[in-house]
Amino acid sequence: MANIVLMSRLSVTLFRPEYRRKNFRKVIKTLDMKEKLQDERIDYTIGELNLSDLDQDPLKQFLEWYQVYTETGAKDPNAFTLSTVNSEGQPSARVLLLKGVDKGGFEFYTNYQSDKAQEIENNPKVALSFFWPSLERQIRIEGLATKLSESESTDYFISRPHSSQVGAWVSPQSTAIESREYLEKREEEFNAKYPNDVPKPPHWGGYRVIPTKIEFWQGRASRLHDRFAYVSKDGGEDWNIIRLAP
Ligand SMILES: Cc1cc2nc3c(=O)[nH]c(=O)nc-3n(C[C@H](O)[C@H](O)[C@H](O)COP(=O)(O)O)c2cc1C
Repeated sequence: MANIVLMSRLSVTLFRPEYRRKNFRKVIKTLDMKEKLQDERIDYTIGELNLSDLDQDPLKQFLEWYQVYTETGAKDPNAFTLSTVNSEGQPSARVLLLKGVDKGGFEFYTNYQSDKAQEIENNPKVALSFFWPSLERQIRIEGLATKLSESESTDYFISRPHSSQVGAWVSPQSTAIESREYLEKREEEFNAKYPNDVPKPPHWGGYRVIPTKIEFWQGRASRLHDRFAYVSKDGGEDWNIIRLAP
């Protein structure tokens, strides 16, 4: 059946006048890829999640799962996707590194003049999502982002390697730049300016996302996954835990 669909799609596409011979291979490849994507599926069978497995505190539950994930030796285990929304309601998402779970929230660092920071300024409601494929787990967090204090950001900044500290001065994150050379020239300048101690740039610092909802997802067979969401009661630190349909 898939082949019949593929062939009919192929013939419709190939007889369109804009497709000349040189496009033939490209068309085959595109359709091939689509079929490959559609065939890409695995059954999740390595674990399960029950209400009785969950800690009452979702941050402790997060840390428990995080610990297990780091023990797998995964690369960048603290990488997550941060979603923000701009003033026109357009969401955007990018990968960041989680740098702390403290004071009731999830912490990351960035440039306060970046697109994400401007979007958070306008709308502090954000979402974080973690996907840990080797454990067949996903964690989704919704919450409110607030800036860390200058002293918290400075404490973290001074723990970073010299090259990352200089990088925070070099890159006008999210702005258009004319060339790679522009960055390399600035790197040279800031390396010369700060050969040893690098002060934290005023435009660089952290955020803490205080969660209002955290979902733990464990893949199961036949797409009947286990999902539990902690929803904060009245925005406080007490949580209701509900099972969600997959
Ligand atoms: C694995 C990985 C980790 C990253 N970590 C950070 C980070 O911690 N902070 C940061 O500002 N950007 C980080 N980035 C870059 C961001 O994805 C993004 O390109 C940058 O922050 C600009 O985003 P914006 O223009 O939406 O503000 C990381 C990218 C990857 C792929």
